[in-house]
Amino acid sequence: MPAAAGRGSFYITTPIYYVNDTPHIGTAYTTIACDVVARYKRLTGFDTFYLTGTDEHSMNVERKALSQGLTPQAYCDQVSQLFKETWQQLNISFDDFIRTTEPRHHHAAQLMVRRARDKGDIYKGKYRGWYCSSCERFYLEADLVNGRCEYHPNQDPVWLEEDNYFFRLSLYQQRLLDHIEAHPDFIEPEERRNEVVSVIRSGLEDFSISRSTFKWGIPFPDDPDQVIYVWFDALVNYLTGVGFGYDEAMFKRYWPADVHVLGKDIIRFHCIYWPAMLMAADLELPRKLFAHGFIYFKGEKMSKSLGNVIRPLELAERFGLDGLRYILMRQTPFGRDGDFTWESVTERYNADLANDLGNLLNRTLVMVQRYRDGLFPAATGAHAAGARLRETASAILPEIDQAMDHLQLSDALASIWKLVTAANRYIEEAAPWVLARSRDEAPALDDVLYNLGESIRLIAHLVQPYMPASAEAMAGQLGVALDTSGDWSRVSPWGQLPAGTRIGTPAPLFPRKE
Ligand code: MSP
Repeated sequence: MPAAAGRGSFYITTPIYYVNDTPHIGTAYTTIACDVVARYKRLTGFDTFYLTGTDEHSMNVERKALSQGLTPQAYCDQVSQLFKETWQQLNISFDDFIRTTEPRHHHAAQLMVRRARDKGDIYKGKYRGWYCSSCERFYLEADLVNGRCEYHPNQDPVWLEEDNYFFRLSLYQQRLLDHIEAHPDFIEPEERRNEVVSVIRSGLEDFSISRSTFKWGIPFPDDPDQVIYVWFDALVNYLTGVGFGYDEAMFKRYWPADVHVLGKDIIRFHCIYWPAMLMAADLELPRKLFAHGFIYFKGEKMSKSLGNVIRPLELAERFGLDGLRYILMRQTPFGRDGDFTWESVTERYNADLANDLGNLLNRTLVMVQRYRDGLFPAATGAHAAGARLRETASAILPEIDQAMDHLQLSDALASIWKLVTAANRYIEEAAPWVLARSRDEAPALDDVLYNLGESIRLIAHLVQPYMPASAEAMAGQLGVALDTSGDWSRVSPWGQLPAGTRIGTPAPLFPRKE
């Protein structure tokens, strides 16, 4: 999919998802957010690579597979496929889907261990501690609440003791702090950055990177009794996905990653372990780590009929796929937690999509049909209010770009909606139905209709990353095709809608929901 593009490369990743769960609204949230950014970057001319995939090795997976009478591999094949299909159904434009069970990844993870070992950063020691098998991590006694980890209050951790290999994280404390200080955008949002800094300042301990108590993992180099433990395996996927150890040209093209997107639950691994591992391997660090919040659905109906776990496709059934994508991206600032209810999301859908955007499109098409036989007239400049509309359009473009660079995905939508709102207000102000009564006002009416069509053309391109199918349908109703060439200079300047464009067939894009 990556097209030749003029603005350099852009590499974005999701966490790779554990196969002991199936896709749900939380994992869909991350995956859709990355999709929005990836699509925006492609649209605006970046040679974009979007990686997602599945994290398949662990004690949990081994156990779960056996309990279902499957080999771990057969079990992983099934669940990984389900993730891939779900993302395809959600219209996720990933460029590759990585599985940690692939040979290319085994090779890459072993290569990373070797590099760190050659540096002297890996040693053998004894691990003792409380292990929560759902988190896949050890806890200190002091970190447990009522004897259990904070994330799994219904599950007892187990006491494990074994010989493991350790990574000298403690060695990297100062270098990590220096890097974070020198790169203010490295960890976002800022609260997360502060959190990470305070964890590092409180002192970093070496962490164990192998296990001998289960077999379902990547063999540790030169020690067949151990497998590489999950984080030293999983994090490396970001390198494997762009050719590390097998395609040097690709690796050069995309590494370092521009942004790793992750949920707040896995900040420590991404913002502390991962940069230190890369330092040990003498590799460049990613440019940005963005930690988003958690979303919850607490609508009564939802919890009654579905339990706490919401499947993304069920929500899509109600709001349409693009309605779902829009709601998830708009309702909560990316980075904060969000608590959704049926009422709040229905209200959002109706207000923004059914009313604001849907009506703008529909009213415009109806007027072009009625007053100009379905053909967009040429702009004439004869109506004064047009200048303000154009100003709004050109003001939002840099705003959106800036918001996207900081993954403020909800803010970028708010900026797009400034143009939607301005265009609706423009209709009210210009009152085309009044202009239509007088022959003298024909040039003014032409101008108003053209400017509305042009606004919609621009809006369709701008919402495309969020609502790809609806954007295409919108453009189709307008009578044009979306320009996806990646040449932003052909899309963004005002006035690209050709005069004489014949409108397509009007149809409501976002039917109202009660
Ligand atoms: N396999 C590890 C990640 C390894 S990355 C090198 C993992 N997998 S996971 O399946 O548990 O996925 C965790 C991620 O799913 C979170 O970081 C977040 O992106 C997403 N979410 C899971 N539940 C979520 C919500 N309720 N809300 C938002 N995102 C959530 O951790």
